[in-house]
Amino acid sequence: MRARGLVKRYGHVVALDGVDFDLMPGEVLAVIGDNGAGKSSLIKALTGALQPDQGEIMLAGRPVRFRDPLEARRHGIETVYQDLAVAASMDIAGNMFLGREVRRPGPLGTIFRMLDKKRMREESARHMADLKIGLRSLTQPVESLSGGQRQGVAVARAVAWARQVVVMDEPTAALGVKESGQVLDMIRRVRDRGLPVVLISHNMPHVFEIADRIHVQRLGRRVAQIRPDDYSMAEVVAIMTGALRVDAGRGAVVTDEEAARAIGLS
Ligand SMILES: Nc1ncnc2c1ncn2[C@@H]1O[C@H](COP(=O)(O)OP(=O)(O)O)[C@@H](O)[C@H]1O
Ligand SMILES: [Mg+2]
Repeated sequence: MRARGLVKRYGHVVALDGVDFDLMPGEVLAVIGDNGAGKSSLIKALTGALQPDQGEIMLAGRPVRFRDPLEARRHGIETVYQDLAVAASMDIAGNMFLGREVRRPGPLGTIFRMLDKKRMREESARHMADLKIGLRSLTQPVESLSGGQRQGVAVARAVAWARQVVVMDEPTAALGVKESGQVLDMIRRVRDRGLPVVLISHNMPHVFEIADRIHVQRLGRRVAQIRPDDYSMAEVVAIMTGALRVDAGRGAVVTDEEAARAIGLS
């Protein structure tokens, strides 16, 4: 997936100021940036939740334009939203097939609109097992699950339907250490299946643990695309805040001595 020159204005506020974006097949790309840098706006533009004022988005080499998230989903782009968007009173299979219910074969399904609950349960069980999400029962309501298990359901649903890209907005923000570890493991398994993952995160250790590349967003633009192996966490934070600039060919350039000193870079 690729975007060039995306612009989004809210009145006088420029949320996206000509941002570029590149996601390669089979990679985990972390999108990081300070509050207000335009991370959410970028993700919303890529997943159909907002329409950019300018710029273009390409998927597998073709220009695309999503009027709404449903249209992005039809193109194989699934998003796990930050606020654990699962239906609490439904069970796991109900959540997995929310909006995509499978009807019974024959007239029971086509005329009486009866759901094929057995098939939905079997397929849900398979998806959960694929991601090694252990659950005692697929018929327990999602509200009885822990935060990590709920996040697991949201991730499993996205992965089950995604054909091109999975986007996750702060998937570990509400989770404890053990549950965060499980979600990171899941992200690895998704990547290992060849699906690229876009991960928005504030958690630098998580980013360094899992990302193949990092997109650094600042003031509505991409200011750097780097590999975590090439930079320290302190340097990445400095790029995020503008104390360091990454110049093609020259590497990192200190632009703010005082800020760089404050985090021990010079
Ligand atoms: N719906 C909106 N209306 C007005 N301003 C917005 C809206 N959404 C985002 N903004 C502004 O756009 C800028 C970028 O916001 P956002 O994309 O949420 O950044 P981030 O997710 O990196 O914190 C901020 O200045 C924010 O206040
Ligand atoms: Mg945000």
